[in-house]
Amino acid sequence: MDQAFTQDMTLGYSTDEPSIVLGSPMLDGEVLSDVRVTLPLSTTNRHGLIAGATGTGKTKTLQLMAGQLSAAGVPVFVADVKGDLTGLAAPGDASDARLQERVTSLAWPFVPSSHPVELLSLTGALGAPVRATVSSFGPLLLGKVMDLNETQTSVLSMVFAYCDDHDLALLDLEDLRTTLQYLTSDDGKGALEQYGGMSKATVGVLLRSLVTMEQEGVGGFFGEPAFEVEDLLRTAPEGRGIISILELADVMAKPRLFSTFMLWMLAQLYQALPEAGDLPKPKLAFFFDEAHLLFDDASNALMEQIELTARLIRSKGVGVYFVTQSPTDVPSSVLSQLGNRVQHALRAFTPQDADDLRKTVRTFPKTDHYDVEETITSLGIGEALVTVLSSKGVPSPLAATRLVPPDSRMAPADPPVLERLINGSPMRIKYLEAPDRESAHEILSARIAAAKEAAAPPPTVTVEGPKGEKRRRSTAPKKRTSTSAEKSNAQRTLEAGLKTVSSSEGQRTIRVLFGTLFGKR
Ligand SMILES: Nc1ncnc2c1ncn2[C@@H]1O[C@H](COP(=O)(O)OP(=O)(O)OP(=O)(O)O)[C@@H](O)[C@H]1O
Ligand SMILES: [Mg+2]
Repeated sequence: MDQAFTQDMTLGYSTDEPSIVLGSPMLDGEVLSDVRVTLPLSTTNRHGLIAGATGTGKTKTLQLMAGQLSAAGVPVFVADVKGDLTGLAAPGDASDARLQERVTSLAWPFVPSSHPVELLSLTGALGAPVRATVSSFGPLLLGKVMDLNETQTSVLSMVFAYCDDHDLALLDLEDLRTTLQYLTSDDGKGALEQYGGMSKATVGVLLRSLVTMEQEGVGGFFGEPAFEVEDLLRTAPEGRGIISILELADVMAKPRLFSTFMLWMLAQLYQALPEAGDLPKPKLAFFFDEAHLLFDDASNALMEQIELTARLIRSKGVGVYFVTQSPTDVPSSVLSQLGNRVQHALRAFTPQDADDLRKTVRTFPKTDHYDVEETITSLGIGEALVTVLSSKGVPSPLAATRLVPPDSRMAPADPPVLERLINGSPMRIKYLEAPDRESAHEILSARIAAAKEAAAPPPTVTVEGPKGEKRRRSTAPKKRTSTSAEKSNAQRTLEAGLKTVSSSEGQRTIRVLFGTLFGKR
């Protein structure tokens, strides 16, 4: 093999640091199996992109990285859009002929292995339920779910600001609906007038859009118990990182919803984690599959927030990996922050493809060994053009890499394994508690009454909660403060709920991050 190539690869990828192995470099179809293309754990937080045409091996690359990171003690979050990542929980099949061929060509010691997996699910059907409060979601993300335009989103922001100003907790969609109903009622007129930009007509549009959303069954994703992102940072007793897999197969038809939920998780992580600087290994690797869904028709405001989140979360020890077909799916401001790149094959069928390909080629570092455009179009399945940040922070030499196979199963786990994972999960028990439907009518009436009180000028009111109320989710929106010295149990429950949700500074911070109307509060 070409001497200069061998030397460049050997030097470029030699490291004593703990790293994960992606594969070995190739030149003219020959594999240099003495050298391993590696990603140092210390630069895993420098974010990355896994791109390539359909069927070229993106998901298997994600599986490979997730398994090795877990083995190195790094917790991992992955979104499983097609249901093909549950195989992480089962050992790979060493008898597979294609796998054997790959392992031999790479001189790779293949040891089948399963990984500690936690299944999460937005519906709760495929794993522990993940819910968010409307308040923590904020207007920008909710606006994306509701497909609002910028004007409508800014009105929604004002509704959030109104609730903040009046200490009204927004826990679930019902809370938001009641607030919107109130604001469009005769009683609420005064409130609308105080918030200059809120027109009754637009609030009406929001209300209708919300009702449609509830009819589509989205309501259950919002409310309490809200998912605590700290649960993504767990390690198993023997030190391996737990791989949390968000199963999305049953909400595939709602891409706006699940992509914003992932962004919400990132925002929550940003808020929950302290500054960490550069760590020897990340606290979490976060894989964002089908990332184009996030960027598709995102408003400028949302785009800015995504860029900002990516920039800031790195120093909190979280590495974010976007997985999508073409690098051109990712806006350049975000792309430029992705230090680690695994580019699978791209095909140039249409003039647009050819255009995208040329743009992609320009985003890679220079190389003496490859014609980048030709290499990208001729890579085989499970091969990729790789460049990562070395532990010194310098881009590694571009390497057309034959990837090692994941040590876990390259197909969904068997149903009994899935069942065991779902039913045996402590997270499921923690988050399963369903909303208290029985008292819904009572609660709703109390909310409307409370909302009216909130709008009345003298704040000297005592709110009686409905009898037998046990759950704090069922107590909003309503006044937080009472001038009455004696508080009922319901009142105390109510205040506790509000403290953890509405009045929590943390939630405000998140909403600042995700842009309330007044943005920089
Ligand atoms: N590293 C690898 N080792 C062994 N086989 C691989 C590897 N990568 C990909 N393959 C093979 O290629 C097939 C397709 O890979 P994968 O599902 O990862 O593609 P994809 O790019 O995610 O496709 P899509 O865009 O449709 O989701 C796999 O089922 C597997 O057989
Ligand atoms: Mg895939």
